[in-house]
Amino acid sequence: MSDVAVTASLPGAALDRLAAVHDVRVRPPGPPLSGAELAAFVGGAEACICLLADRVSAEVFASCPRLRVVANYAVGTNNIDLAAARAAGVVVTNTPDVLTEATADLTWSLLLAVARRVVEGDRLVREGRFTGWRPDLLLGTGLQGKTLGVVGLGRIGRAVARRAVAFGMRVLAWSRRPPADVLDTPWEMAGSLDELLSRADVLTLHCPLTPDTRGLLDARRLGLLPAGAMLVNTSRGEVVDEAALVAALEAGRLGGAGLDVYEREPAVHPGLLGRDDVVLLPHLGSATRETRAAMADLAVDNVLNILAGHPPLTPVA
Ligand code: DGY
Repeated sequence: MSDVAVTASLPGAALDRLAAVHDVRVRPPGPPLSGAELAAFVGGAEACICLLADRVSAEVFASCPRLRVVANYAVGTNNIDLAAARAAGVVVTNTPDVLTEATADLTWSLLLAVARRVVEGDRLVREGRFTGWRPDLLLGTGLQGKTLGVVGLGRIGRAVARRAVAFGMRVLAWSRRPPADVLDTPWEMAGSLDELLSRADVLTLHCPLTPDTRGLLDARRLGLLPAGAMLVNTSRGEVVDEAALVAALEAGRLGGAGLDVYEREPAVHPGLLGRDDVVLLPHLGSATRETRAAMADLAVDNVLNILAGHPPLTPVA
């Protein structure tokens, strides 16, 4: 039996499977852990399952010499010092594939909510301000024939792009490393990010957070979007310069934004909170019962494999 540290209780029955064969310590609900706090919690554990806001810093690898695997309960791994993990010989795993469709659905929920003013309409009804049908009540933006700009063509970006066909949108995509199968799709690849931005009626972000993508959507790039364009972000908040986004919205240059993630999550830029043209969600991309249980199963199976001396199912390169 190995000591396994889990930083939060997880949906589904996966942790019961783990606890049947290992000593599992589950942290009670609390704020995300700093590197020092996580190191203290992991202690002498051989495996750790952690959340996307827990900081798996070099300090964790230096202070936890028995650690063999960190299973991130997320597909994004920007919370983990991967170089330090490699140097320490610790395997890092994530949860790809199982959350792709849920995250693409949520992206479209945000896109439609912004374009068709769904949340404003809900507020109007609840506040007793619905006095009857009017030809000009809460007019939104039609999507048919418009261009969806997709930044990042990993699994989620592609799943979002696939759905665009059903809404009659053209897909214009940009990726640092376009996948080979993109040639079999009706999507157009932009020659550069600037070209994509200058042609996107709706921009949706699906790139991982890396040093290259931090602040990718800055004031200059936001300024390239056509007047009235909408932004949707279900990737990582730090990809967007939130102050620049607020300035573009305040200047009336953008048609709205749908955000699931924030630059200083869980804090939200105060300039966003009072705006009717912005829909804000609390990082719900993968939040379906089915998906969160599947993520737990995958994280647990990765841990079980490593502790049994088998290769992990979804190692992070
Ligand atoms: C992830 O897995 O990276 C998502 O942000 C979780 O919803």
